[in-house]
Amino acid sequence: MALTDVEIMELPRINDPRGNLSFIENGARCLPFDMARVYWIYDVPGGCMRHGHAFYSSHELIVAMSGSFDVLLSDGAEQRRIHLCRSYTGVYVPPMTWRELDNFSTNSVAMVLSSSLYDELDYIRDFEQYKTIMEDAVR
Ligand code: TYD
Repeated sequence: MALTDVEIMELPRINDPRGNLSFIENGARCLPFDMARVYWIYDVPGGCMRHGHAFYSSHELIVAMSGSFDVLLSDGAEQRRIHLCRSYTGVYVPPMTWRELDNFSTNSVAMVLSSSLYDELDYIRDFEQYKTIMEDAVR
């Protein structure tokens, strides 16, 4: 898995004069994994960064349900920054991809769909350790 596997995904949208509706289902084309957990990040003080880790095996889809923020992705060598500001656009982040969330607007909500239940053992929280793992993988 690498940055080339990262995908910006347009979620289904049902436009309606009463207000629009989007949805995500397991097994649908818009979700390249089965979800096991949903969590969300909110009330982020100005200037704060969240995430700052990679997962060994978890797949995630990150959506800005409200407001906006940036998703900074890295494979240890290259970086990609994606600005999310629509509740019908998600970023698919494959396993072994470093990610940070920053540049949160006031009242933003980051919703994350994960392919796994919470497991601290699936985290790589040290960027130098992550880079070493990635470098060893290509040797
Ligand atoms: P963490 O994943 O470190 O936050 P961030 O998304 O900013 O990297 O999670 C923060 C704390 O919340 C940590 O103690 C673990 C706990 N947590 C759960 O208990 N369940 C979860 O699903 C998540 C995502 C975190």
